[in-house]
Amino acid sequence: MELTRDHAWDTLTRYTKSEALRRHALAVEASTRSYARRFGEDEVLWGVTALLHDFDYEIHPTLDQHPQDGAPILRGEGYPEEVIEAVLSHAEHLGLPRDTQLKKTLFACDELSGFVHACGLVRPTGLEGLEPKSVKKKLKQPSFAAGVHRDEVYEGAELLGLELDEHIANVVTALRPIAGELGLPAPPRDGA
Ligand SMILES: [Fe+2]
Ligand SMILES: [Fe+2]
Repeated sequence: MELTRDHAWDTLTRYTKSEALRRHALAVEASTRSYARRFGEDEVLWGVTALLHDFDYEIHPTLDQHPQDGAPILRGEGYPEEVIEAVLSHAEHLGLPRDTQLKKTLFACDELSGFVHACGLVRPTGLEGLEPKSVKKKLKQPSFAAGVHRDEVYEGAELLGLELDEHIANVVTALRPIAGELGLPAPPRDGA
């Protein structure tokens, strides 16, 4: 099979009907791809992996199934083991080593992309003008986006060897161009 973004989108949307979950996939994709670009890695491979990391969550909503029972489905669809292994490694409960840059990056982008997205949703200007310091302040409020595991956000930045501020700024920058798709105010156009 030829690994393409279109193919991954097709797989994702066949198994995932929820708009919120599709948006989560898009956000993690944008962040992970931005790091692929930064590190000079394969943007398609990294983007496909991110797009698919929770593809089975709707049909496997519990941790005794997600994401491990999704793996045979991906294998059946012909995705390479590199993608499948990275998808499996995002799950804390499986305890798999994050021994490649792709695995580290996916893990680092998963929770933080969701959190930054949530920050954008409560601001009238969305992601415009969203500073790392206000994201960090919200991270310290346990009731805000309570489902986001803070320890995984901090661990992710460490895995990438980045200061949390820098990682947050990178994710905000990555999400801005797809703000409209995420249900956030679209970024102002040049000259508008
Ligand atoms: Fe997941
Ligand atoms: Fe996720």
